[in-house]
Amino acid sequence: MVEDCEKQSKRKSNSRCRSLRLYIIFTVFLLLFLCYYIIPNEMSASWALTVGLLFPEKFTTQAINASLNTVSAVTPSERWKSPEPYYVAYPYKYNLILNEPEKCQKENPFVILMVPVTPSNTAVRDAVRSTWGSERLVGDKTVSVLFLLGLPTSEDRETLQQNLLQESEKHHDLIQNDFWDSYYNLTIKTMVMLEWLSVYCQNASYAMKVDSDMFLNVKKLVDVLQSAPKHNYMTGLVERKAVVLRNPSSKWYLPKTVYNPPLYPPYALGLGYVFSLDLPEKLIKAAQRVRPVYIEDVFLGLCMTYLGIDLTDPPSGNLFNVFPVKYNRCSYSKLIATTTHSMRDQVEFWKDLQRPGPYC
Ligand SMILES: *[C@@H]1O[C@H](CO)[C@@H](O)[C@H](O)[C@H]1NC(C)=O
Ligand SMILES: *[C@@H]1O[C@H](CO)[C@@H](O)[C@H](O)[C@H]1NC(C)=O
Ligand SMILES: *[C@@H]1O[C@H](CO)[C@@H](O)[C@H](O)[C@H]1NC(C)=O
Repeated sequence: MVEDCEKQSKRKSNSRCRSLRLYIIFTVFLLLFLCYYIIPNEMSASWALTVGLLFPEKFTTQAINASLNTVSAVTPSERWKSPEPYYVAYPYKYNLILNEPEKCQKENPFVILMVPVTPSNTAVRDAVRSTWGSERLVGDKTVSVLFLLGLPTSEDRETLQQNLLQESEKHHDLIQNDFWDSYYNLTIKTMVMLEWLSVYCQNASYAMKVDSDMFLNVKKLVDVLQSAPKHNYMTGLVERKAVVLRNPSSKWYLPKTVYNPPLYPPYALGLGYVFSLDLPEKLIKAAQRVRPVYIEDVFLGLCMTYLGIDLTDPPSGNLFNVFPVKYNRCSYSKLIATTTHSMRDQVEFWKDLQRPGPYC
């Protein structure tokens, strides 16, 4: 039609062509507009996700929500199945073996740091205890620290468990549950962490899950949290519209049978994320309905999407860093968390930041 029109236009007046063009452009815009605003249903979800990278986040989040693998609500113990690859044994009632039930009552923390760590890694726990884990008071705000463990899986597990008992008596900072501590069980660790918080630490304002190999600037963390929202708040290095890895050799491989959409929901990277203490209970409820994936931070993202709660971007860039930041006092005084190249760096940087004198 447009071609015909162009031919004609050589001879006749082209006012008719102009209105035809306008009409076509208008129709295209109308279609795009409808695509944008119609809430996608399950049929349109996969299409929406395929082109999702081009669309605003609101759109992809709704599409992911529509295609979530939800499961019907069940009582926790009904769901236990024999483990198969990528199967996450949750919801399930795990029991506490080591606990600090009065930690929060006694310390009344403003923020509690929850640090997942393998049972055998005493060295990393000691490194944390001697560095950022030792900062218990920032201004008038108390900071508490707990380590999260499952059951040791190695051959010498009995000796290990004995050592843990002693370590726990000495430091009173271990929380251990009876699931096997392994990489593919990290989602379980995160969920029992939330369960613990909702039972034993409801009065704290915030919790941060932080990996033991991170450099953490506790002062900056408290500083930022003092003006942060008090409810429905989760922040960190927020990843939006990350593509799901389908290469089986990838560390974060997820088969389509476990999670079908090509994009992840918005989620905060697991190296360190912060949340208000009203969220644990909501996330636990959501987790009864959303099919678990073994990538713990993605799973929380799915639960947040299910709840319809947005993640919050940190108030400024560079507060959370996934790539090691080159050390200098000035830049480290302005960040909350960063990976480092080694445990030695982590300790050295922390010590250097403590010495008196101006940062910048
Ligand atoms: C939380 O605070 C309330 C009121 O301040 C108090 O009654 C309750 O015992 C506290 N709970 C815990 C677990 O500290
Ligand atoms: C995760 O923990 C459960 C409960 O202890 C166990 O049955 C399962 O084998 C563990 N999975 C992995 C991959 O270690
Ligand atoms: C996702 O779905 C749940 C229930 O199906 C709903 O309550 C929630 O508001 C939805 N979230 C978004 C972002 O659409």
